[in-house]
Amino acid sequence: MLPRCRPFFFQQTTCQCRKELSSTTQQFIEFRGVLSSERERNRTVSSFYNQPAIDAAACKASMRLTPATILYSGKSKDGRHVLKSAQYLQRELPIRIAHRIKDFRNLPFIVGSNPVILGVHELYIRAFNILNSFRPILTDEDEQKYCMKLQELLEDHKDVVSMLAEGFRECRRHVTNQEVVARFLDTTLTSRLSIRMLAQHHLALRDDKPNHVGIINISMPLKDLIERNSKFVTRMAAHKYGRAPTIKMSGHVDATFPYIELPLEYILPELLKNAVRATIENHLEDEEPHLPPIHITIASNEIDFVIRISDRGKGIPHHLMRRVLEYNFTTASSLSESGATSTAAEAGDDGSSAFSDMMEAVNPGPVGGPMHGFGFGLPTSRAYAQYMGGSLKVQTMQGIGTDVYLRLRHINSQGEAFRI
Ligand SMILES: Nc1ncnc2c1ncn2[C@@H]1O[C@H](COP(=O)(O)OP(=O)(O)OP(=O)(O)O)[C@@H](O)[C@H]1O
Ligand SMILES: [Mg+2]
Repeated sequence: MLPRCRPFFFQQTTCQCRKELSSTTQQFIEFRGVLSSERERNRTVSSFYNQPAIDAAACKASMRLTPATILYSGKSKDGRHVLKSAQYLQRELPIRIAHRIKDFRNLPFIVGSNPVILGVHELYIRAFNILNSFRPILTDEDEQKYCMKLQELLEDHKDVVSMLAEGFRECRRHVTNQEVVARFLDTTLTSRLSIRMLAQHHLALRDDKPNHVGIINISMPLKDLIERNSKFVTRMAAHKYGRAPTIKMSGHVDATFPYIELPLEYILPELLKNAVRATIENHLEDEEPHLPPIHITIASNEIDFVIRISDRGKGIPHHLMRRVLEYNFTTASSLSESGATSTAAEAGDDGSSAFSDMMEAVNPGPVGGPMHGFGFGLPTSRAYAQYMGGSLKVQTMQGIGTDVYLRLRHINSQGEAFRI
């Protein structure tokens, strides 16, 4: 059982309880290393209770932009678009972060006082203070200093998804209303995605990467992106098991259109890991020398594009179907050893731990960070897809396999566009 400590006691927590802490909790405690000075830390801690600036920012409405606005907002030769973009971020980011801090405060006490979740809460307060106190951006020099701050914050927050996964796993058994948690995580994770997209877009504006305007690839070959992620997941599986199913692609494989790679770099490996895991785990006893391949079908039309990932991993049992999109639901049994999550045992399944080791490899996506079979892959991917104006649907044929449909709107399609 982890100690439940208020932030004031972090110092004591480190000294007295270190032996009892999980590696992620230790990671969380070490995040304090990023608090560069005692004064800054005191300011952050007192901010839990005394936060008029956060309260004021949390009352303001966030201004979400359509990708088309971002794409066509013009590139001026004198670089003024970069300054304008920084000024937009300077107003916008503290507001978005303040909304998230408000959500942390509204979590049920038993959840909000979990040390790992408090750690993320504190990271958000620190980010707010840094960005909100930054001097007005009026010159190129200001903008460059602001970029350095953004870089640092992106780095400091890179493990937030796995910290939240760990924190919510630890307190899951105490949560009576899972819907509150699901809503919090949907909003926090998608807002984090949007903040990272905006920050990375700004940082990329000065790069002259061919075919790109900031983070938007103006002619993204979807096939290449899928291939890259397939290779990554195949390598992971081959490394762990000495085998991996082949991944085949068909349909509109020549489709090329403007899009943002960042969310796909998170969603695709998560869906592929699931398909590969199911294929390997459910053919362990097979005499057949080859695993059944995974088929990916692409369809692109004027409004949206669809990626279907079909595996022959024997499907998802009826009694698990309604739970696979819940946060922290996993059949990866390694986590059952720490006893804090919904496990195969609880679900009546005999989920093998073999594949969960593979999940410990770092997800290369800039969004997700390391994942360990926390039961975050599907719900996070669905939340991201919905945020991007799309959907994620799971269809399964028990005894045969599973099809996952990822549907995303084109950023230049007619009609209601999504906003970042
Ligand atoms: N293609 C699939 N075939 C069979 N079962 C699946 C498939 N995809 C997901 N599942 C089931 O749904 C559960 C939840 O999936 P999810 O991706 O959310 O979490 P995870 O894979 O267990 O952990 P994480 O993704 O956080 O590493 C899995 O543990 C697995 O039991
Ligand atoms: Mg998964």
